Order: sequence, then C-alpha cells, then structure tokens
Amino acid sequence: MQKRHIPITVVVCLLLAVALAGYLLPATAQKLPVRILFHNNGGRVIFSHLRHHRNYEIACVQCHHETKTEHDRQQAAKAEPVPCGSCHPASFDQDYIAEHVNSFPDKSYCVKCHHAEFGELAFDHEAHKEYAFDDCQACHHGPDIEDEPGHCNQCHDLAGDEYMPSLRDAAHKRCATCHDDMFDKGIKGCSPCHRMKDMTNYSGSYTPCQQCHRTPNPDRELVLTRTNAFHDQCMNCHRDLQKGPYGENDCDKCHIR
Ligand code: HEC
Ligand code: HEC
Ligand code: HEC
Ligand code: HEC
Ligand code: HEC
Ligand code: HEC
Ligand code: HEC
Ligand code: HEC
Ligand code: HEC
Ligand code: HEC
Repeated sequence: MQKRHIPITVVVCLLLAVALAGYLLPATAQKLPVRILFHNNGGRVIFSHLRHHRNYEIACVQCHHETKTEHDRQQAAKAEPVPCGSCHPASFDQDYIAEHVNSFPDKSYCVKCHHAEFGELAFDHEAHKEYAFDDCQACHHGPDIEDEPGHCNQCHDLAGDEYMPSLRDAAHKRCATCHDDMFDKGIKGCSPCHRMKDMTNYSGSYTPCQQCHRTPNPDRELVLTRTNAFHDQCMNCHRDLQKGPYGENDCDKCHIR
C-alpha cells in the first residue's frame, strides 16, 4: 500500500510545481520585442522598443494607452498589447468596420470607441406646457401635419432626407429656440436632455459615431488614423522631453530612405 503511494505523491508534487511556475512566470516571461520594424511609404522605421522602455524609462502604458486603468492593466498582463492598427487603421473604411470586431481579446475594448449610447430623454413634458404657455405648436406641428400632437419619432427617423429632417435635427430645431445655451456647448452640452446608458456591460447595437458627432470640421478625426497616431505619439513625446527626433528636418532620423 505505502509503496504504491510514493509514485503518486511524486507526480502530484511535480504537477504542483509546474502549476506554481505557470502561475508565477507569465508576467515576467512576456515577450518584449527588442526592435520593431515598420514598413511604410515614408521609408522603413526601426523603433528601439526595449531601449525606449528600459533605458529611457518609459512605462508601457504611456504608449500602449489602451491599458489606462488598473483593471485594464490586469487584463493586459494576461494578454499581449493590441497592435495600434486595431484602433488606428489606415482609414475607418468598410473593411475596417467589418474586421475590427474580431481584433480585440475581449469586449472590454469596445467601449474605448463605442463609449456612449443615449438612454431615456430627460424631458418634463408637463412642465414644458407651462414654459411654452400652453402653445403646443412651440414644438408640435399644427393640424395640417399632425392631427393630434404625438411622438416625433412617428414620422422623423434617424436618417432623415431632403424633405424630412432627421429626428435629431427636427427635435433640436424646436428645443434650440429656447435652449440655444445647451447647444452652444457642443458635444459637452447633451446631458441635460439625454440620459446616458451605462456602457460597462452594454449589449445591443451601436449608434454610428456621426449620429452624435457632427464636427463642423470634417477633417478632424475622432480617433487618429495610423500615420497620425504614430507621428503624434512618437514626436509629441520627443518634443515634450526635447529628446529624440521631432523637428521638420528630422524625418531621416526615423525613416531610412
Ligand atoms: C515608447 C513607446 C512604447 C513603450 C514604452 C512600450 N511599447 Fe510596446 N510597442 C510600441 C509600439 C509602437 C509597438 C508596435 C505596435 C504595432 O505594431 O502596432 C509595440 C509593440 C509591442 C508588442 C508587440 C505586440 C504587437 O503589436 O504584435 C508587445 C508585446 C509590447 N509592445 C509590449 C510592451 C510592454 C510589455 C511594454 C512595457 C514593458 C512596452 N511594450 C512598452 C511602443 C511602446
Ligand atoms: C483599444 C484601442 C486603442 C489602441 C490599441 C491604441 N489606441 Fe490610440 N487612441 C484610441 C482612442 C479611442 C483614442 C481617442 C480618445 C482618447 O483620446 O483617449 C486614441 C488616441 C490616441 C492618440 C491621441 C493623443 C492621446 O494620447 O490621447 C495618439 C497619439 C494615439 N492614440 C496613438 C496610439 C499608438 C501609437 C498606439 C499603439 C502603441 C495606440 N494609440 C493604441 C484607441 C486606441
Ligand atoms: C478604435 C475604435 C473602435 C473600437 C475599439 C471598436 N470599434 Fe466598432 N466601430 C468603430 C467605428 C469608427 C465604426 C464605424 C461607425 C460608424 O459607422 O460611424 C465601428 C462600427 C462598428 C459596428 C457596426 C455598426 C454599424 O454601423 O452597423 C459594430 C457592430 C462594431 N463597431 C462593433 C464593435 C465591437 C464588438 C468592438 C469591441 C470588440 C468594437 N466595435 C470596437 C470604432 C471602433
Ligand atoms: C417644449 C416642447 C413641447 C411642447 C410645448 C409640447 N410638447 Fe408634446 N411632446 C414634445 C416632445 C419632444 C414629445 C416626444 C417625447 C418623447 O418621445 O419622449 C412630445 C410628446 C407628446 C405626446 C405623445 C407622448 C405622450 O407624452 O403622451 C402628446 C400626446 C403630446 N406631446 C401632447 C402635447 C400637447 C397637447 C401640448 C400642448 C398643451 C404639448 N404636447 C406641448 C414636446 C412638446
Ligand atoms: C405626423 C408626422 C409628424 C410628426 C409626428 C412630427 N413631424 Fe415634424 N415634420 C413632418 C413633416 C411631413 C415635415 C416636413 C414638412 C415641412 O417641412 O413642413 C416635418 C418637418 C419638421 C421640421 C422642419 C420644418 C419646420 O417646421 O421647422 C421640424 C423642425 C419638425 N418637423 C419638428 C418636429 C418635432 C419636434 C416633432 C415632435 C414634437 C415632430 N416634428 C413631429 C411630420 C411630422
Ligand atoms: C418655449 C421655450 C422652450 C422650448 C421650446 C423648450 N424649452 Fe425646455 N425649458 C424651458 C424653460 C423656461 C425651462 C426652465 C428654465 C430652465 O431651466 O432653463 C426649461 C427647462 C428644460 C429642462 C431642464 C433644464 C435643466 O437644466 O435641467 C430640460 C431638460 C428641457 N427644458 C428640455 C427641453 C427639450 C428636450 C425641448 C425640445 C423638445 C425643450 N426643452 C424646448 C423652455 C423651453
Ligand atoms: C434641449 C434638449 C436637447 C439637447 C441639449 C440635445 N438633444 Fe438630442 N434630442 C433631443 C430630443 C427632444 C430628441 C428627440 C428624441 C425623441 O423624440 O425620441 C433628440 C434626439 C437626438 C438624437 C436622435 C435620437 C437618438 O436617441 O439617437 C440624437 C443622435 C441626438 N439627439 C444627439 C444629441 C447630441 C449629440 C447632443 C449634444 C450635442 C444633443 N442631442 C443635445 C433633445 C436634446
Ligand atoms: C450617443 C451619442 C454618442 C455616440 C454614438 C458617440 N459619441 Fe463620442 N461623445 C459623445 C458625447 C456626449 C461626448 C462628450 C462627453 C463629455 O461630456 O466629455 C463624446 C466625446 C467623444 C470624444 C472626446 C473628444 C471630443 O470630441 O470631445 C471622442 C474622441 C469620441 N466621443 C469618439 C467617438 C467615436 C469614435 C464614436 C463612434 C465609434 C463615438 N464617439 C460615438 C456622444 C457620443
Ligand atoms: C513617451 C516618450 C517617447 C515616445 C512615445 C517615443 N519616444 Fe523615441 N525617444 C524618447 C526618449 C526619451 C529618447 C532618448 C533620446 C536621448 O536620450 O537622446 C528617444 C529616442 C529616440 C530615437 C533616437 C535614439 C534611439 O533610441 O533610436 C529614435 C529614432 C526614436 N526615439 C524613435 C521613436 C519612435 C519611432 C517612436 C514611436 C513609435 C518613439 N520614439 C516614441 C522618448 C519617446
Ligand atoms: C519619431 C520618428 C518619426 C519621425 C521623426 C518621422 N516619422 Fe514618419 N513615420 C514614423 C512611423 C513610426 C510611421 C508609421 C509606420 C507604419 O505605418 O507602420 C511613419 C509613417 C510615415 C509615412 C507613411 C504614410 C503611409 O501612408 O504609409 C510617411 C509618408 C511619413 N511617415 C513621413 C514623414 C515625414 C515627411 C517626416 C518628417 C517631417 C516624418 N515622417 C518624421 C516615424 C517617424
């Protein structure tokens, strides 16, 4: 009896040792690329990755900024950082929209971009009958269009067309006659009227960015595209620290032509 227990004990001990090592090692054994080569139209760039971290003492999170919170960092310790291009593609075109959904380790990354959805409208209808002195047509149409006042979304849809303003534009036009102060605040002025949904465990479809973001300047990117993301991250840091290449004539210090 006793002798038969010995091999089992040895095997159990070995397994325990392997499990313990497996538990302790991954954080330190994570592969850190020494150098990274970027092929691009400006000429190859060789980026001294390890040296930037170790010699220049830059924390991972300063560059891999998807891991901003403590929870994110614990996640990231298990998984490798996401390539910048998963979030900063050459362009936000149909290919990106189709493919990006599968380029993240888990759903916690989605909220970095799909960060907001509107819930209920915070609108006190009864109170507004008073504010508008019982003039229903301060907001509703007259009987030529509406037999009786009703929900705007019965007729106005999200897209709108040349004859019918979208739900957003229709409602905003009416509200703005008295609340232009809220709209003057731009994207930060939505909250008095729109309650935000809690996005942490959101499941449902996503509203296109443009429904909410209508930047007066269409060239302004909500999220930077690839080259701008790299140029900004690399050169802004160099400029801030006055170290490393960032000047107009420094292109060749990064690009090998
Ligand atoms: C100075 C900026 C910078 C710092 C600091 C930095 N990285 Fe990176 N790292 C990058 C860039 C840029 C890439 C290339 C990403 C790409 O190809 O899209 C990269 C790529 C990687 C990759 C390869 C993943 C892939 O894209 O396939 C890993 C793994 C990685 N980094 C881990 C780390 C860890 C861990 C730390 C901290 C110990 C760290 N990095 C610090 C900028 C940095
Ligand atoms: C999980 C998605 C994600 C990944 C991965 C990611 N980014 Fe970003 N990045 C964003 C979003 C979203 C913004 C805009 C919102 C913000 O400012 O936080 C942004 C903003 C930026 C900005 C603007 C300034 C700033 O820091 O706010 C730069 C520069 C940038 N990213 C570079 C990079 C580089 C380089 C990498 C790879 C090392 C990278 N990003 C990886 C999502 C990501
Ligand atoms: C770097 C930013 C970014 C991240 C991170 C991101 N997305 Fe997106 N996603 C976009 C953009 C931009 C669009 C295009 C939206 C538009 O049409 O305005 C989009 C579109 C979509 C669409 C199509 C919506 C439609 O119009 O039909 C789905 C579905 C989607 N994303 C799911 C996800 C999921 C799931 C994740 C996480 C696993 C995720 N996305 C992470 C930026 C991002
Ligand atoms: C300040 C703008 C405004 C005024 C003034 C106003 N309404 Fe409305 N009303 C709305 C909006 C916006 C909705 C849609 C609300 C929603 O979808 O949650 C609505 C919805 C309705 C609805 C359908 C939903 C419900 O609450 O039953 C009725 C009926 C209605 N209004 C009647 C009236 C009448 C009658 C008056 C005048 C006494 C009036 N409203 C004055 C903005 C207004
Ligand atoms: C029964 C259908 C119907 C309902 C309900 C409806 N609309 Fe309209 N709306 C229309 C039509 C049709 C037009 C386009 C005809 C026109 O320009 O007069 C229009 C045009 C508009 C316009 C642009 C022209 C203008 O009058 O300034 C605004 C603003 C507008 N609607 C706001 C609203 C608001 C706010 C609500 C809800 C309180 C609402 N509508 C509910 C049918 C409707
Ligand atoms: C005829 C003028 C008038 C119109 C049109 C109007 N409002 Fe108001 N609204 C007021 C007044 C007056 C108040 C109370 C004073 C204040 O808080 O500004 C108010 C208050 C509010 C508040 C509370 C403000 C706060 O800071 O909490 C909300 C939300 C609101 N309105 C939403 C709307 C919406 C949505 C529409 C369009 C459907 C609308 N209002 C159209 C006059 C108007
Ligand atoms: C004064 C109140 C008010 C303010 C401020 C306001 N909205 Fe609205 N918004 C409305 C009303 C009312 C509707 C119509 C909702 C309905 O009838 O279902 C609406 C509808 C919308 C819609 C279409 C419906 C939906 O839920 O997707 C979008 C998108 C939208 N608003 C975006 C914004 C954004 C972005 C801001 C900030 C820049 C903003 N709104 C500020 C009152 C407001
Ligand atoms: C339902 C409405 C809504 C949708 C959809 C939405 N956003 Fe936003 N976004 C907002 C609001 C509201 C703010 C301002 C938050 C605040 O008050 O700081 C904002 C702020 C931002 C900012 C900060 C910079 C700025 O312009 O002030 C970025 C970047 C951003 N959104 C990107 C995106 C991207 C990318 C998408 C699509 C994948 C998206 N948003 C979809 C409502 C929305
Ligand atoms: C958060 C700050 C930071 C970021 C981000 C950063 N760098 Fe640097 N970089 C430095 C510092 C500090 C030095 C050291 C310069 C010195 O000591 O003279 C440096 C030096 C360099 C040098 C010259 C010496 C060497 O190590 O090769 C190059 C080339 C360089 N960086 C390229 C890049 C590229 C490419 C990126 C983006 C992928 C980048 N850097 C991102 C801080 C940064
Ligand atoms: C700090 C290093 C650095 C400096 C300085 C720098 N770049 Fe870049 N550049 C990069 C990186 C990293 C990329 C992105 C590589 C990738 O997309 O994989 C890039 C991308 C590019 C691209 C590629 C665009 C494309 O669509 O493929 C061009 C063109 C470019 N840079 C031109 C320049 C010019 C011109 C200058 C001087 C004004 C300059 N760069 C300075 C690092 C640098």
